[in-house]
Amino acid sequence: MFASQRLNGSKPEQYAQLAEQARALLDGERDRIANAANLSALVAHALPDLNWAGFYFYDGRELVVGPFQGLPACVRIPLDRGVCGAAARTRSTQRVDDVHAVPDHIACDAASRSELVVPLVDGERLIGVLDLDSPRPARFDADDQAGLEAIARLYVDSLR
Ligand code: SME
Repeated sequence: MFASQRLNGSKPEQYAQLAEQARALLDGERDRIANAANLSALVAHALPDLNWAGFYFYDGRELVVGPFQGLPACVRIPLDRGVCGAAARTRSTQRVDDVHAVPDHIACDAASRSELVVPLVDGERLIGVLDLDSPRPARFDADDQAGLEAIARLYVDSLR
């Protein structure tokens, strides 16, 4: 059984511990749904002040919601829309301090105030995005971004 460990120390240290837990969770499994489901649960329980944590997968045309923790979400997101679409289209992490200031932000949960979306890319291939939402403005800083980009890399590597 998986026993989640409390994170402690500086933020980078906490993310290093979280990455260790993620590595253990993904070890020996390549199924993209199973790994996304467990990672969503791990992240949602480990990190404070989140109201949504999960995956969207690219189906060759648009993003389709995958495993997540939080309120039911928009099922499909075109690449030219929203923060998730921008992350997928530009293949670069989108860190938004105030989603109300982003005109085409897609509000799945009205409580969301800030958002971090990390693209999932394997070489040239777009797999999808890892999306985190918070009810707290400016919840995500550069340490969160680096930590979640590392978790996203572990996910992509687990599928190989
Ligand atoms: N806010 C996202 C949509 C996904 S939900 O937050 C779960 C966006 O603007 O792309």
